[in-house]
Amino acid sequence: MSIPDKKKEKQGKRASFSGSLGYILAVAGSAVGLGNIWRFPYLAAKYGGGMFLLTYLVLVVTFGYALIVSETAIGRKTRKSPVGAYRFFGTSGFMKAGGWINAVIPMLIVPYYSVIGGWVTKYLFEYIKGNSSSLAGDGYFGSFISDSANVELWFLVFAVIVFAVILAGVKNGIERISKVMMPLLVVLAVVVAVYSVTRPGALEGVKYFLIPNFKNFSVMTVVAAMGQMFYSLSIAMGILYTYGSYLKEDVDIEKTTRQVEIFDTAIALLAGLMVIPAVFAFSGGAPETLNAGPSLMFITLPKVFDSMGFGNAVGVVFFLMVLFAALTSAISLMETSVSTLTDELGFDRRKGCILMAAVMLVFGSASAMGFGVWDFVTILGMSVLDFLDFLTNSVMMPVAAFATCILVVRVMGCSEVAKEVRRSSAFKREKLYRFVMRYLAPVCIAVILLSSIASVMGWIQM
Ligand code: PHE
Repeated sequence: MSIPDKKKEKQGKRASFSGSLGYILAVAGSAVGLGNIWRFPYLAAKYGGGMFLLTYLVLVVTFGYALIVSETAIGRKTRKSPVGAYRFFGTSGFMKAGGWINAVIPMLIVPYYSVIGGWVTKYLFEYIKGNSSSLAGDGYFGSFISDSANVELWFLVFAVIVFAVILAGVKNGIERISKVMMPLLVVLAVVVAVYSVTRPGALEGVKYFLIPNFKNFSVMTVVAAMGQMFYSLSIAMGILYTYGSYLKEDVDIEKTTRQVEIFDTAIALLAGLMVIPAVFAFSGGAPETLNAGPSLMFITLPKVFDSMGFGNAVGVVFFLMVLFAALTSAISLMETSVSTLTDELGFDRRKGCILMAAVMLVFGSASAMGFGVWDFVTILGMSVLDFLDFLTNSVMMPVAAFATCILVVRVMGCSEVAKEVRRSSAFKREKLYRFVMRYLAPVCIAVILLSSIASVMGWIQM
């Protein structure tokens, strides 16, 4: 990812991306991450396979599309990150709350995101040491995450890398590496997916993942798909306001949105094809594996790699790329968090980093230990990590998205956004855009919030 140099901004004009490629790479770097490779397959496995996929795709091209366009256009119009962008339109309590909820979400995600990033780093390390066959063993993952000291250690390793990049300001370097790593990730994902899909017994998994079966549909399918859409596209959390604010006027917002969506979805699909058929080929599609949740990728992929005969080599390359994708996303989360603190609370960058380090340490460590020494700490029946994931994805992001809908529909008016978009393209999907912002989005958000409440109350099972 790359957020243009803040220094330039101090010297006068707000910095901007060099053009649409720079912008797409930055947004794609933020969007493509653990959400696609780790989170998407386990949710699809758990919440209805093909039905989940279909719901997800419909949401991406409607709700997701409208939200990306809104956030980017508002960012570009106001040249501000979320708190400032809301303030641009008014100083009422709603405007303050709307800006801040967008700004706080990344601060809550980055700690637990880094814990998963730590798991990835640990797996990479083990593959480098040549431990492919023990990683493929049944109990490996379970015993690793219950070893809290070890999980904490790898979480810290990941977190230190993130801070090092943020402090050293080597983001431009990252943009250059992205150009190589992202295509490589695609190629490797295709290779592994083809291998996975052609294993004996995998076909059942391909069918489960790709063919919608209405039997598998439930409210939870929609709730999970919507949370995932926010998460994977990096929307409803202020990131795209910030990125939009660096965007030049002549860059076509519609086109870049489409490209980012296609890329992000393609990676998620490939990850699904790597993981879900493998569950059927290697574990016979057992329900407990399908429902494994956050551990799914770490349980099935090592089995796939090991069976390839050169598991260590594939494991090293694969986890290196996942680590890279995770880092670019974590950096975008951290960068937005730090810039909110510096812009809004008047902190200098160092102080902002120190505060975020404290947040990371508290929430990250609590998440890291939640499967081991702190497994007695549960919030509403969830481990700390699951709770933070639930709180941000199923409660706060819908609220943040709702705030954006109100800002657009009631405060600015859809026409204002349309005007901004039309500065750089024809806005062909304006009708769809208006419909989503006025009707579809509020209804979906109501559904997700009611279901979240119902699940907390124990009325439905998440
Ligand atoms: N979209 C990223 C992913 O899929 C996660 C992320 C969320 C990054 C929010 C930045 C902001 O992994």
